[in-house]
Amino acid sequence: MVQRFTESISFDWRLYKFDIQGSIAHASALEKAGLLTPQERAQIESGLKSIEREIDEGRFAFRSDLEDVHMNIESALTSRIGSPGAKLHTARSRNDQVALDLRLYLRHETDDLCRRIAALQRALVQLGEKYQETIIPGYTHLQRAQPVLFAHHLLAYVEMLARDRERLIDARYRINRMPLGSGAIAGSTIQLDREYMAELLGFSEVTRNSMDAVSDRDFVCEFLFALSLVGVHLSRLSEDLILFASSEFHFIRISDRYATGSSLMPQKKNPDVCELARGKTGRLIGNLVSLLATLKGLPMTYNRDMQEDKEVIFDSIDQLKLALEVYAGMILEIEVDSDRTRLAASDPGLLATDLADYLVLRGVPFRQAHEAIGKLVAYCIERNRGFAELTLEEFRRFSENFGPDLFEVLNVDRAIDSRTAIGAPSRKNVAAALEAWNAMLREHP
Ligand code: ARG
Repeated sequence: MVQRFTESISFDWRLYKFDIQGSIAHASALEKAGLLTPQERAQIESGLKSIEREIDEGRFAFRSDLEDVHMNIESALTSRIGSPGAKLHTARSRNDQVALDLRLYLRHETDDLCRRIAALQRALVQLGEKYQETIIPGYTHLQRAQPVLFAHHLLAYVEMLARDRERLIDARYRINRMPLGSGAIAGSTIQLDREYMAELLGFSEVTRNSMDAVSDRDFVCEFLFALSLVGVHLSRLSEDLILFASSEFHFIRISDRYATGSSLMPQKKNPDVCELARGKTGRLIGNLVSLLATLKGLPMTYNRDMQEDKEVIFDSIDQLKLALEVYAGMILEIEVDSDRTRLAASDPGLLATDLADYLVLRGVPFRQAHEAIGKLVAYCIERNRGFAELTLEEFRRFSENFGPDLFEVLNVDRAIDSRTAIGAPSRKNVAAALEAWNAMLREHP
């Protein structure tokens, strides 16, 4: 009963490759310190590698009475090779060992996640290229605001995901520090060359305080935060796609492979992948908050509470990796009804700001222009007519600065193409941005 409560092997076995990698480096440092003969070190290495192969192939029997991955592997090694195995744990504690395993594991997963994020970015860019001419209404407060290119909307997410990658790379910088040699809390009287171990394991730095090294999990929190934010971005994209796929909008079609029917209502096609990506984001956030809450009251240094870090890490990584992969596939298969989005974007109200700008360019102060157009919009709504259906005479009732060239403003394509500042959605800008992202994502896969 107690064992069932305290064991972690049922989940931390997943760290085995990193535990073995760390032990091999540790054995090398022991050899360098004269504590193992070259033969003993070689026996340890080959013993660990055979254990690794057995685990890879599912032939290794983990024992929950041996509690965790560290003790399972060490005990198997000793029962296979005898006394050299029993020397492996010299000048090491499970406290620095587990900190090392986690850092190696998270470093590996960070790289993997960055690749998956890039793949999703590529899918978004590809969809944008496919629908380069598609115009949609841009929304604020979920009210139609101004016309934009669909690709511009997609590229907004490409930018968010780029920052997500930057954040992971930044978190990796703090993950990438080597804790071995910190022992249980205060290092060891036996001197090992920590920098040598760091070099063997590809770390750029060693941790600088043994107490900090065994009790620090802030690198995990940062990592979980970075993952939560990727989730939040996916969740917002999901919300857009769910809305756009609804009968009310009818802008896009999500492939049947990424949707399901209702068991009751034959007409339904539900955007389940989007909904689950949105839903699972709750879990990603929960996992971060769960670890923060676990850490907040812990006295220095290691406490067993910290074993609780693993399941949240595994869960966030598993869920996000799956979500990113499924999502990239789904994005590539989205179909857009460009006629329908163009019609929605041709809602004349969307050009009200452009009309105000027209007046400004003729010397009317913006606030006055805004007020005049406000009244003009009310006039149109009352009569149920669009701007284009009004006469110049009618326009001039709201401002005498209107001239016959005002009708040129009432064109969505022109409205989009006049937005040429850096970051604005003119067709030329968006085409250049797609091109630039393509090149960037080719260079940094
Ligand atoms: N399974 C433990 C964990 O995940 C390993 C470290 C245990 N250390 C100890 N002194 N009990 O945190």
